[in-house]
Formats: sequence, structure tokens, C-alpha cells
Amino acid sequence: MAKVSTTRSQHQPRPGRDAHLARIREQIMASRAQPLGADEQRDLQRIRQQRKLARDLYWELAKRWGSLALVRLGAAEQTYLDTLDTLLDHDGLSDPVARRAVGESGDPKFQALHAQLVEVGHRSEMAASQAGLLVEEMSLSDLAAARARTRRPEIAAVYDDLLRNSRNHLRALFRQMQRFEGEYVPQSLSLSDFEAIVWTQPEPC
Ligand SMILES: [Fe+2]
Repeated sequence: MAKVSTTRSQHQPRPGRDAHLARIREQIMASRAQPLGADEQRDLQRIRQQRKLARDLYWELAKRWGSLALVRLGAAEQTYLDTLDTLLDHDGLSDPVARRAVGESGDPKFQALHAQLVEVGHRSEMAASQAGLLVEEMSLSDLAAARARTRRPEIAAVYDDLLRNSRNHLRALFRQMQRFEGEYVPQSLSLSDFEAIVWTQPEPC
């Protein structure tokens, strides 16, 4: 089994991206913490669960296939986990994945999904890209719904950033899958929405 070091890429300096995330964090801290609607709370906690699922999946599959591309995706998800943690903390919400090890979720649905995606991703490196596409597609649908429901600008800003990040991940995974001559049928997005993303250029932050 190929092994890949996860240290270097996680600590690669990315000044533009770091400054961008710092601005989002400042916006969160500058906003007044106030009670969120039940739907907004549920969404935030679910999105945090989902980002952890994505991060854990990428880390596990990166180890399995020795893929630097997957290590990078995992590192990006980690930054979002951190941003969401700031948001949950700021609004006094409990963290659904506090103290959960890699691959563990307190939610049976996420746990089952994780097991299913890891199983798919272990079949081949091409299938690992497909497992990633499934998780990013699901993320895009859920994030769009959560974005439409929130009334708070600092939460909307985080969701907008996550949406762009997931579109870029979808593009990267699709390219990766094509290199292995795989095929993919979208499950959460319509074919036209999926194609409108994967056939366009990555978006800078
Ligand atoms: Fe992602």
C-alpha cells in the first residue's frame, strides 16, 4: 500500500487563501452572537458533520492510494472544519463531531455513508475520485439549501465560500477521474448543473 506524507501540503503557505479565511473569521467574530433559528442550527451542525465526513474520506483514501491530490482536498476540508467550529462556538451551538476520531461520526446516517464511500474508494484510485464526487455533489445540494435558509450574513459568507470550494473540488475530482478513464453519473445534482461546473475553470478565492 502506498503511503503519502500529509505534513508538507497541509502547511504549504497560501497567502491569498489564508488572508481570505482570516477575513471570514473576522466577519464571524465581529457579528453579534444571537439566537439562530432551529433550521439554521440544524444546517450548521449538519454541514459541520458533512465537512468532517469529506475530510476523513479524503485522508483515508489518500493513505490508501498515496495520492497527494487527495491529501490536498483533505487539508482544504480541515480549514472549513476550523471555520465552522468558530461559527458554532460564536453562536453557542454544540459541536456534533467534538472529540470524534477520523472515520467516526455520532450520527448513524453519516457513519453508514462514510463506510459506504470508503468501501467504494478502496476499489481503485478511479473509484476514489468517484467517491469524492459523490460527497462533493451532496455537499453542493445541501449547502445551497442551507444558504437559502440562513438570514445571517456571516453564515452566508461561510456557505458561499464552501460552495465555491466544493465546486473546485468537484472539478479537480472529475479531472482526476478522467485521467483514469472513468465515467460518472451525477446523483445529487442534475446533469446540466453538474456539467456547468466540471467543464468550467476553477474559481479563485
Ligand atoms: Fe470539498
